[in-house]
This record gives sequence, structure tokens and C-alpha cells, in this order.
Amino acid sequence: MSQTMRLITSPSFIPEAKALKAKCLAALFPSEQPLSLEIGCGIGDFIVQLALRHPERNFLATDIFNQGCLKTCSRVDEAGLSNVRVMRSEARFLMTHLLGPESLQAIYINCPDPWPKKRHRKRRLVNHEFLQLAFHTLQPDGEFHFSTDFVDYGVSVGEMLEAEPGFANLQRTPHSHELKDYPISKYMRRFLELGQPIYYCHFRRRADYQLERPPAIRRGFRSRWVKPGSS
Ligand SMILES: C[S@@+](CC[C@H](N)C(=O)[O-])C[C@H]1O[C@@H](n2cnc3c(N)ncnc32)[C@H](O)[C@@H]1O
Repeated sequence: MSQTMRLITSPSFIPEAKALKAKCLAALFPSEQPLSLEIGCGIGDFIVQLALRHPERNFLATDIFNQGCLKTCSRVDEAGLSNVRVMRSEARFLMTHLLGPESLQAIYINCPDPWPKKRHRKRRLVNHEFLQLAFHTLQPDGEFHFSTDFVDYGVSVGEMLEAEPGFANLQRTPHSHELKDYPISKYMRRFLELGQPIYYCHFRRRADYQLERPPAIRRGFRSRWVKPGSS
């Protein structure tokens, strides 16, 4: 899909080039606080609610869509939040090249594109390879949050996480339809109003597990590929 690009001048916005130059994303926040990442922030309603509740934490919100980043920045600025930064970046690129190992306290993914057609399922963001990358960027005991309205995606991510030796379930079942104190995103609200349940997966990165080898992200749908060892 083509995008009409609008210049984002908000102080909350970090252009990717600036982030690449800075090397350490944590340094782009006014206070040194634990950092969490929201992937696919859309128009920013989820991250604004979360950041208002947690001034003691920093949040990086990313989306590949310029208009979404623009709207997220406006909401962040209107709310007067200094603990949120917004980047227009592909999530796997950001996690591989801009975030260090064990740099995140939590990862949030809400209503990612479900790719409902069977032949498109391989385009889904969350798969085994992605979970290796999530493990790599999360701190020991860091939290992984996933929510979706799409039954097949919710069930399969819950099962995938249960099967990953690096993750431990923080709920009694692989997914649930309620998660206490979890903000509602625009898409979640849309589906809840239609009477459709949300599938929540909430896991913790095990502190006592190590990956056998560092995660490798291959060229794939939307992901940008950079030669191994070149960054
Ligand atoms: C269905 S929308 C959900 C938006 C929001 N999370 C919500 O729940 O209201 C999915 C969002 O993920 C973004 N997205 C999709 N793939 C992405 C990727 N690989 N990296 C970053 N953002 C991505 C899309 O641009 C879109 O804004």
C-alpha cells in the first residue's frame, strides 16, 4: 500500500537516521528509565494510556505507517508525555539493529495484521523466528504481551509461546479473553463493540534460559534484510 508522506516535526518523533546515529535509543529519552516497546502502535491510543499510568517507565512506539506515527505523536504531545518516543520503523529491523540484547522491560503487540488467508499466514509478524528475536531483546523476566481479535492468530501464538523454552506463561491458559489493567487499543475497542472477544497472551522471558544461537531475521514480508555482521 502506498503512503502519502507527511513531515513529522514533533519532538516525540525520532527519525530512523537519528536513531541509527545515536546507537543507544535509551539516550533519546529525558530520563533514564526502563524501556518498553509497542509494535504497530497505530494512532497511539494504547501507548498514551499506558505511558500516563507509568511515568516511571519509558516507551518506544513504532509503526511502519507515517500517518499512524504522526497521529501517535500528536496524542503523545497533547497528553504532555515526555516518556514516549515514536519511530517509523519496521519492527524486526528496529529490534535487530537499534535495540541491544536485553534492552526491553516489555514488548506489546496489539491486533497485528492477521493475514486471514491461509496462503498469506507466512506474512504474520509473530512466528518462531520473531519470538527468538523478542527473547533476545527482552531483559530476563521481561514481559511479552500479544493481543488479537483473530481467533486463529490468538490460539496459535498462545501455543507457540507455550512451546518456546525461553518463555513462561503468566496466565493459567495459553490465551485468555481478559487481562486486568490492560489498556484498550483502537482496534480492540472496535472488535469489543461488535461483541467479538480479544485473545490475550501474556508471557515472561525466562531468566534461566539461553538461546543456542543469536536470532537471525531473514529477508521476508516487510522485513528489511541487512547482511549478517554488517551492522
Ligand atoms: C491492525 S493495525 C493495529 C493498530 C493498533 N495496534 C491497534 O490495536 O489499534 C496494525 C498496525 O501494525 C503496523 N505494522 C504492521 N506490520 C508492522 C511491522 N512489521 N513493523 C511495525 N509496524 C507494523 C501497521 O502499520 C498498523 O498500523
